[in-house]
Amino acid sequence: MSEQSKEVAKSSHTSGAEHVYDGGLNVVHQDAVKDPGIEPHRVRMTDKSKKHEKAAVRQVVLLFTLSMLGSAFALYAYFAFPLSADLITVRNNTLFLGVGITLGLLGIGIGAVHWAKTLMPDNEVAEDRHPIRSSEDKRAAAIEIINLANQESGFSRRKLIRRTLYGALALFPLPGIIIFADLGPNPGDKLRHTAWKPGTRLTQDPFGTPIKASELTEGSVFHVIPEGLNPDQEDYLEQKSKAAVLLVRVDPQILKESPEKKDWSYQGIVAYSKICTHVGCPVALYEQVTHHLLCPCHQSTFDLVDGCKVIFGPASRPLPQLPIYVDEQGYLRAQSDFLEPVGPSFWDRSVKA
Ligand code: FES
Repeated sequence: MSEQSKEVAKSSHTSGAEHVYDGGLNVVHQDAVKDPGIEPHRVRMTDKSKKHEKAAVRQVVLLFTLSMLGSAFALYAYFAFPLSADLITVRNNTLFLGVGITLGLLGIGIGAVHWAKTLMPDNEVAEDRHPIRSSEDKRAAAIEIINLANQESGFSRRKLIRRTLYGALALFPLPGIIIFADLGPNPGDKLRHTAWKPGTRLTQDPFGTPIKASELTEGSVFHVIPEGLNPDQEDYLEQKSKAAVLLVRVDPQILKESPEKKDWSYQGIVAYSKICTHVGCPVALYEQVTHHLLCPCHQSTFDLVDGCKVIFGPASRPLPQLPIYVDEQGYLRAQSDFLEPVGPSFWDRSVKA
C-alpha cells in the first residue's frame, strides 16, 4: 500500500467511515452480501416425462419450420409485390416482406431458446477464475464437455431438429440479401453532369428570365438556373438542384484567376456552383466586404475572389466554377457544363468520365 493510500485509510478509520481502503482504489464493503450460492435445481417436465420431451421436440421443429416458411414467404413477397410508383404496392411490399423476415427471425430465435430451456440440461455450473490459457488436461476436459453437450443436447442424434435448424439458418439471410437490389439503379455518369450545355443562357431562379451582363452591378448576386428547365419534366427538381449557380460581380482587379481559367469570367462576373462540396447544402450567403460565400449548414466558407477555395469549415474542395461568356445581345451564357462534378465528393470522383 502506498504512503498516500495508508494516509487515506487511516483518516477513514479515525473518521468512522463505512469503508476501509485496501491496496490501490479497491473499495471493500465491511457488510458485503454473502455469496448465496447456486439455487437448488428444479426438475423440468421434460426431464421426467418422455411424453413432454417429445412434445418439446415437436415444438422446436415447428418453430424452425415456421422460420423456413417465413423466409420463403419473404422471398415470394419480394417478387409477388414488386415496388412501383403506386403507394399501395409500396405498402404491400414492405408489409409482406417484413412479416416474412419477422417470422424467419422469430422462428429461429424462439426455437433455439425453447430447445435450450426444455431439452438441454439446465444444471447451473460455477467455475472459479483461472489463468486464461487452460492446461492440457483442462483443454482435453473441455473437448469432453463439448462432446457430452453434443450428446446431451442431441445435436447429432436429433437429426430432424438439426436439419430444420440448418434450413432455417440457410434461408433466413436470403431476404436480407435480395433486398439490396432495391438500392436502385447504378447512377452511371449522372453525378458528373448537370443541365448546363455549351451556349445555355443563365436565367434567374425561379422566373427563368435571361440575365444580361449589364444588369449586374458590382457586389450584386443572382441565383441562377439554366434556361430551358421544364418544371413538368420528371427529374426537374433533381436537375435544378444540381445546376444551381451563384452569379456575382466583383471588381475584376481583385480576382485571382489561374491562367487556364482566365477566360471563364466576364469583366468581374463569376459563376460558381451553389452546392456545397461538404454535404450538398446550398451556399447562399454572400458577404460583400470580404467576398466570402458561407454555407449555413456547417459554416464552410469559400473565398469568391480566389477560385472559391475553402478558407474555413469541413468542405474539402473549392466550389466548381461554371465557365461563362456574353453573346452579341449581351446575355450571359455557359461555355460548357461544369468541368468537374458538383456537390459532395464521392467514391471515384477523381476518375474522368
Ligand atoms: S454542407 Fe456546407 S458546410 Fe456542410
